[in-house]
Amino acid sequence: MIKKIGVLTSGGDSPGMNACLRAIVRTAAYHSIEVTGFLRGYEGLIDNAYVSLKPESVSGIIQRGGTILKTARSKRFTTEAGLQQAANTLREHQLDGLVIIGGDGSFRGAMALYEASKIPVIGCAGTIDNDLVGTDFTIGYDTAINTVIEAIDKIRDTAESHDRIFVVEVMGRDAGLIALRSAIGCGAEALLVPEISNDREALIQKMKQWRSSKSSKIIVVAEGDESGGAYQIAELIKQHLPEADLRVSILGHIQRGGNPTCMERVNASICGYHAVLGLLQNKNKVMVGIINKEVVFTPFHLAVKHTQQLNPELEKMIDILSA
Ligand code: F6P
Repeated sequence: MIKKIGVLTSGGDSPGMNACLRAIVRTAAYHSIEVTGFLRGYEGLIDNAYVSLKPESVSGIIQRGGTILKTARSKRFTTEAGLQQAANTLREHQLDGLVIIGGDGSFRGAMALYEASKIPVIGCAGTIDNDLVGTDFTIGYDTAINTVIEAIDKIRDTAESHDRIFVVEVMGRDAGLIALRSAIGCGAEALLVPEISNDREALIQKMKQWRSSKSSKIIVVAEGDESGGAYQIAELIKQHLPEADLRVSILGHIQRGGNPTCMERVNASICGYHAVLGLLQNKNKVMVGIINKEVVFTPFHLAVKHTQQLNPELEKMIDILSA
């Protein structure tokens, strides 16, 4: 019997977390389950900071970016004392389950929390990076890549006017998935990502072959690329092509905000809905994801292994389509 569950958002926020939360609260209410929302991720569990969430508590949030529960990257939770304190809070609230909306770090924490509390935990993949195994798109990714292409479209206008090259840095400290899709979506001329090594040399060669009639060029760099980022790439280009008229643009945290896209809201709602059903079906230590339109539960220990390789065909496409 599941009578009472907890929910929290953890790690970097992502658009769609609120839509997911709304689905969790409303699905739980449908099944007569009480919901307690912990504030600021695992920090709220340690401090016993919480709110009771009723169906009306989540009105008007499906379209809002960020997370109404707030979030944190909790250092205290990585200590044994913090973990035990968080487990105590779960027991004091007599919870029958906990839903965690977050990324890989949050799910590693969730596994430890289950061992300390023996209270079932289930995850919804909330991160803009899309670096989890077990889902085609994490909650936040679609909105983030749409934000990126909107920004790069604007950069393209000014790049065209001045016949300039722009090096645009996007988020993704371990993964180049934001960079890859947004590069295709904005017709970028080149891509640099952490998954591909030695791509700097190839970039210089490629730049020397760019046709002169092409007035603007966009190079998309993931922040985690081995080059160290957009400024380092710009330095390298200047060394090899001193005549290049070059600018750098770092998109930064605008990628984490904004109203979630329709796809995001729908996927987040499906994941939140199935997280509650998963707890009712006695699932534990799994992440809810969507693969090929099917809901899939992936054990946390597999979900956190970012083994997703970039599709080499997509990468090749960038060169062919931007020629
Ligand atoms: O994990 C999501 C993410 O946005 C990464 O792409 C980025 O490197 C990181 O968070 C930034 O985190 P913070 O906002 O804590 O600096």
